[in-house]
Amino acid sequence: MSSVNIDSLIAEAQTFAPNSKEELEQFRIRFLGKKGVLTDLFAKMKEVAPEERKSFGQQVNTLKVTAEERLNHFKETFESAEIGNKSEGDLTLPSDPSPLGSFHPLSIVRRKIISIFSRIGFNVSDGPEIEDDWHNFSALNFPPEHPARDMQDTFFINLNPDQEKYNGSLALRTHTSSIQVRVMENQAPPIRTICPGRVYRNEAISARAHCFFHQVEGFYIDENVSFADLKQTLLYFSQEMFGADTKIRLRPSYFPFTEPSAEMDISCTICKGKGCNICKYTGWVEILGCGMIDPAVLENNKIDPTKYSGFAFGMGIERITMLKYSIKDLRIFSENDVRFLDQFKGVR
Ligand code: DAH
Repeated sequence: MSSVNIDSLIAEAQTFAPNSKEELEQFRIRFLGKKGVLTDLFAKMKEVAPEERKSFGQQVNTLKVTAEERLNHFKETFESAEIGNKSEGDLTLPSDPSPLGSFHPLSIVRRKIISIFSRIGFNVSDGPEIEDDWHNFSALNFPPEHPARDMQDTFFINLNPDQEKYNGSLALRTHTSSIQVRVMENQAPPIRTICPGRVYRNEAISARAHCFFHQVEGFYIDENVSFADLKQTLLYFSQEMFGADTKIRLRPSYFPFTEPSAEMDISCTICKGKGCNICKYTGWVEILGCGMIDPAVLENNKIDPTKYSGFAFGMGIERITMLKYSIKDLRIFSENDVRFLDQFKGVR
């Protein structure tokens, strides 16, 4: 066999690129098989003239190495492709279900509060988080020197940065009572509504206080609304939220916008009234403020206090949630820790 022939065989081996394992096997048989080209060439070695034998031998060797390299290279290629195909699996199977999230516990409790009050005819109202002095304070009968108006307690917003001192016109609302005013401005009695929302206070963050939290305001204005209506509404709410055996008690208190005013305790949900460190061994925990809407507030909002009366109450959603789910630190609500949030999976 001439060296030209071997050159073309080498070229053939070098450019060989199979499309299938079968083609590769045919290549192996043709070049490296028992009856293949190389066996043939080695057999012919004896017939080659002695002076050409060395270069012939070298060429045959080059062909052998080339063919083996090609074979091994494509063997590996096909094998790894097979492994790759296996790991892709069956593409027609349905995918893994996406992991479901959960409602935030504060959302769960807010939804529950809304659901409880909607069953006795309360609708839901909303108002802005940035409020003016009138809606947050003045219309609610806060006297000018009331401590809540102090910079220490309220985040005021300075609209004019050139002005050194705040001019007192805008602030982040400190309570959802401001929505009472917004609703009274726009609706005539009878009004029966609850107003959930976020509120802000200039407080250091701790296990018991935060610079923002959530409240639900509720109020009912109609002819002949009495303190007994207030008490029965709050008893109904407490038993729906915390269980039928829950007791309530009202203690006299003071708020500028209600007269008379009260704070309401429920029997401790943890020890059922026996005494524990949550209720400080009193058997009672405070959950809200309430009272009869001060006639001055009705007047401020152009509602005739000789014709109408109303009750109002305001509660912190965090507080209710902490009691309901035995949560001891307020900060965990805003940390977005999935180990905490995942525990509410499936709860609505
Ligand atoms: N606004 C009060 C607060 O933030 C809560 C409150 C108390 C609301 C008594 C009321 C009420 O409507 O009657 O602490």
